[in-house]
Amino acid sequence: MKSSLEIPKHWTFRSRNVATHFDEHVRESLPWYDLATNAVAHFGRHYIPNGGRVYDIGASTGNIGRALEDTLKQRQVRFTAIEESHEMADLYQGPPELIIADAVSFDYEPFDFAVCFLVLMFLPIDTRASFLRRLQGLIKSGGALVIVDKVQMPGGYVGTAFARLTMQQKLVMGAKPDAILAKELSLAGYQRPLDPRSLPKSARAFFQVGEFVGWIIEARQ
Ligand SMILES: C[S@@+](CC[C@H](N)C(=O)[O-])C[C@H]1O[C@@H](n2cnc3c(N)ncnc32)[C@H](O)[C@@H]1O
Repeated sequence: MKSSLEIPKHWTFRSRNVATHFDEHVRESLPWYDLATNAVAHFGRHYIPNGGRVYDIGASTGNIGRALEDTLKQRQVRFTAIEESHEMADLYQGPPELIIADAVSFDYEPFDFAVCFLVLMFLPIDTRASFLRRLQGLIKSGGALVIVDKVQMPGGYVGTAFARLTMQQKLVMGAKPDAILAKELSLAGYQRPLDPRSLPKSARAFFQVGEFVGWIIEARQ
């Protein structure tokens, strides 16, 4: 399906139009979106205990919460989704509860499982390393933090080839070339790929398609 999203000149999630078209747009942009979501649900089943505590950080319309829903119900989990955009939150259709807040300054409880799915690249650069350290320190013994994000590419030709893979996949999914270009320019200054060196050394990659990588991080020993 072709997304009818109007690309804002300066990208923002605080837009009724972006929020309304988010679900179709993200699938058009990232053909692996449902596959990676499914992997997060899989890890949830491995790390969420009975009566556990779970966060979905940067929840948008509730994709991750819905993917985890069976496990949350079956294990009587306390779940919180955090989203800063009122426009996205208005269209949230995941499990309760949703809190509208800035994820970086939010006062988290120690948790068994937390997910940052395509959100770190939108956080201010100077907050990321300390935010990740704080999150890792909050993982309860036996728990995990899952991250899926866009990463800075290596230099040289291989970096060019990786970046072109993202564009090529959008074309294959039916996105219009002018919309792909408009989105790339719209993201300038707001979406800044993650430096993988800001992740703890213990992070284990479970997924990669070109510039997008998924990691699982367990509690510090
Ligand atoms: C690409 S979307 C995330 C997709 C979502 N996790 C999913 O599974 O579909 C990025 C989301 O992060 C939210 N976001 C960005 N910065 C945030 C912050 N500081 N605190 C909370 N949410 C934030 C945006 O409003 C947006 O809804």
